[in-house]
Amino acid sequence: MHCKTVLVYSMEYFNQLRKSWEKTYTEHGSSVPWAKQEYLDVFVPTISGLIKKYHPKANSALDYGTGTGQYAVLLKRELGIYTVVAADLTDKGIDKTLFEKHKIKFVCSDTPNDVSGTYDVILCWGVFHCIEPKYHEQFLSQFAGMLNAGGVIILGSFAPDDSHLAGQKVKKSTFSNRDIFHVKIIDDNNALAALGMKAITRDNIGLKRTFRYAVIKAK
Ligand SMILES: C[S@@+](CC[C@H](N)C(=O)[O-])C[C@H]1O[C@@H](n2cnc3c(N)ncnc32)[C@H](O)[C@@H]1O
Repeated sequence: MHCKTVLVYSMEYFNQLRKSWEKTYTEHGSSVPWAKQEYLDVFVPTISGLIKKYHPKANSALDYGTGTGQYAVLLKRELGIYTVVAADLTDKGIDKTLFEKHKIKFVCSDTPNDVSGTYDVILCWGVFHCIEPKYHEQFLSQFAGMLNAGGVIILGSFAPDDSHLAGQKVKKSTFSNRDIFHVKIIDDNNALAALGMKAITRDNIGLKRTFRYAVIKAK
């Protein structure tokens, strides 16, 4: 395997990012756009379908960048995954009552360094386009090190041809004024191969915002 330079995570960058996300959830609570029914109607069957197809016997899952926790609850309640850990920069968006009821553990995390354990499924949905691309490879490489044998990473982000991003590498979100980045690694077979991984499927989800996902495994 090709050995990559490991980046040092910038505490300043992630502290700023956390403050910005805390502000979003404090101001908007669970009425953030990604918790809208129109997204859930499409994303819930997509995520469930991918797990049922690519890891039907999953026993453990990490939902990295859980947000309101809606997919962590899905993993536990609908898919019956026994151990579900949800991680995010902030717990201000999550429904704590549902997490307690379903025994979902929450971990406050700036980077995968903050999360322990190994998992059959790592879901990272709608998160990478919110993080500077220079960190994508490192996040993915750390996720790979947290996978059980046969495990899968399900990575979803805005597609490069999304109406907002429109082929650009970075744009300001009209909702939050944070930067939205192009997630190149989702389609970069060479970069994945250099990390000892491969995408076993990829597709676009055509919505008002075009989403793209890849299911990634060890080579
Ligand atoms: C657009 S929301 C998506 C939430 C959820 N995955 C969903 O699809 O409903 C992005 C989430 O990623 C979290 N996030 C952003 N950067 C992060 C980081 N470096 N570490 C952990 N969480 C992060 C944010 O706090 C936010 O809750």
